[in-house]
Amino acid sequence: MPLARSLSITSLSGLEEWDEEFDLEDAVLFEIAWEVANKVGGIYTVIQTKARLTAEEWGENYFLVGPYVESNVRTQVELIEPTNPALKRAIDKMNSSGCKYAAQCEEPPHILAHFHEWLAGLGLALCRQRQLPVATIFTTHATLLGRYLCAGSVDFYNNLADFNVDKEAGDRQIYHRYCLERTAARCAHVFTTVSQITAVEAEHLLKRKPDIITPNGLNVKKFSAMHEFQNLHAQSKNRIQEFIRGHFYGHLDFNLDKCLFLFIAGRYEFSNKGADIFLEALARLNYLLRVNHSDVTVVAFFIMPARTNNFNVETLKGQAVRKQLWDTAQTVKERFGKKLYESLLVGQLPDVSKMLSKDDFTMMKRAIFATQRQCQPPICTHNMLEDSNDPILTCIRRIGLFNSSADRVKVIFHPEFLSSTSPLLPMDYEEFVRGCHLGVFPSYYEPWGYTPAECTVMGIPSISTNLSGFGCFMEEHIADPSAYGIYILDRRYRGVDESCNQLTSYLFQFCQQSRRARIIQRNRTERLSDLLDWRYLGRYYISARHMALAKAFPDTYFYQPHDSDTAQGFRYPRPASVPPSPSLSRHSSPRQSEAEEDDDRYDEDAEAEKDRLNIRQPLTLPSKKGPALPYTLPGIYEIL
Ligand code: UDP
Ligand code: G6P
Ligand code: GLC
Repeated sequence: MPLARSLSITSLSGLEEWDEEFDLEDAVLFEIAWEVANKVGGIYTVIQTKARLTAEEWGENYFLVGPYVESNVRTQVELIEPTNPALKRAIDKMNSSGCKYAAQCEEPPHILAHFHEWLAGLGLALCRQRQLPVATIFTTHATLLGRYLCAGSVDFYNNLADFNVDKEAGDRQIYHRYCLERTAARCAHVFTTVSQITAVEAEHLLKRKPDIITPNGLNVKKFSAMHEFQNLHAQSKNRIQEFIRGHFYGHLDFNLDKCLFLFIAGRYEFSNKGADIFLEALARLNYLLRVNHSDVTVVAFFIMPARTNNFNVETLKGQAVRKQLWDTAQTVKERFGKKLYESLLVGQLPDVSKMLSKDDFTMMKRAIFATQRQCQPPICTHNMLEDSNDPILTCIRRIGLFNSSADRVKVIFHPEFLSSTSPLLPMDYEEFVRGCHLGVFPSYYEPWGYTPAECTVMGIPSISTNLSGFGCFMEEHIADPSAYGIYILDRRYRGVDESCNQLTSYLFQFCQQSRRARIIQRNRTERLSDLLDWRYLGRYYISARHMALAKAFPDTYFYQPHDSDTAQGFRYPRPASVPPSPSLSRHSSPRQSEAEEDDDRYDEDAEAEKDRLNIRQPLTLPSKKGPALPYTLPGIYEIL
């Protein structure tokens, strides 16, 4: 009989080594979610990135079910005829008579249906209510009530056990949705969520402790050249710099080479995603950089979709002016080059005073004239529909970060997800992240948080919090996260002002790093990718499925629960090249010139290899009993 293994992370081995035989020949898997081929937020990323691995396991017996959105179907879906006859009959029947179910088959396969989020939960509840022979899993990626409560002014984590859930849901007019979520969680054969922190929340708010935690993974791209991701950073950074040249035309009084790009991105939940404390910390950072006469300029991007009426004229004009300057420079350069060439052809050195004509000067003067502007470079790239009530804009008005010349911190609010077809910043999100220096995600409510995870696999350092699934996971599995460019802000045990000070100090320290230190740090960050790969994290989904099949069809499947007490957890050690000092990211030796700093990244290869070998060694952990996954819930209980 098949046996599923322990869920503890004991090594970073791939699934081949881990998964044992669990005969899925006559089983069919349906995965149902609102975000299948329909991007809203991180659930889309879960489904999309995990699909390949699940398909490897289930082959043609794996089906994803999502809403039919014509534009998404046209761009993201390849239409095919189902090969499975039972499924074909079911689909034909559904097509001819509306959305009724039909799985009429002589020898029905074992059906496993995995529902994500409350929106899909209704299907699960109906499966159970109609007593269909279907094994069910419900994965919640947050709790509705948790999200709503946190978005208000509630002290959420200290009161988790005391909420009158029905009343709270009713007061917020989400009672019907809340009931769907709670029903789905409670009647599923297996209930899962994405992190320990959300598991505790679910236990209190949905009244069921998750059976297993299924952390979110990513498809990790491996480059054959070790420094490829560093080159990609430099390329993407150049493109962001181009955008900045346009955005700040007429006010380019700062050194772009000393400019650091910070960003926050995600659905627009102002306080849940921590945009509030990020802005506050930026104001404090601005002050610190000014009083310390720093030559660093910070540009902080806010990529959060809001209701808009398209790009604003001033922002588009900025890019047009930049393009005009570029075209002018190219034209003058060509004319200059031609004259130079002709002069060399006849064996003469050119008369430099005659190289530029009157026309050239007129053209250049016109181009310079176009760069004059009366207003400050805009904060927002779009016309906002609710400009006066918008939380980011309102906060910026209060703290006074208006992109003035004296400000060392500039802010750009792009209230739309990025796209490579944009006339303004034609980059997709991945390219943009690669070109930035630091992702800042100081969330108060964040069941997992893909954005810092995506930064990590691209080798970009990030700030997350110990109230986010990702932050807690990294804290659990890395001995010294900040040495790897994973800064975890304490929002659990500190008040808002203190957290804000801590964030300011992380940002200020980051601004003080040399280029060399940043390059070394990116190398370290990228080395954590394996930890976030589905090849490794996919095992938790596999276990959840085995568990559900065994519960629903006990005569055919058997699931052996793990014994996490005996397993030793995996933990990345402190990088061998880092001194055990608290100021890890500061200089430990006298500063070098910028040119030397650039070259030094290759010296880091030896250090990298040392660290890599260190990581591959079996680990013993004196400090902490391993692993929290899937169930020890330290810390959070201490404050309940
Ligand atoms: N994202 C994107 N384009 C953008 C900004 C963000 O596609 O311009 C994606 C990002 O890659 C991530 C998702 O949005 O996968 C946000 O997921 P996360 O789990 O961080 O937060 P959620 O929105 O689900 O709460
Ligand atoms: C990468 C490139 C280097 C470049 C550096 C800039 O490492 O390979 O050639 O100098 O990025 O780093 P920075 O942190 O200043 O953007
Ligand atoms: C939710 C959560 C986010 C998580 C995502 C995927 O939208 O807000 O933290 O990363 O689901 O699980």
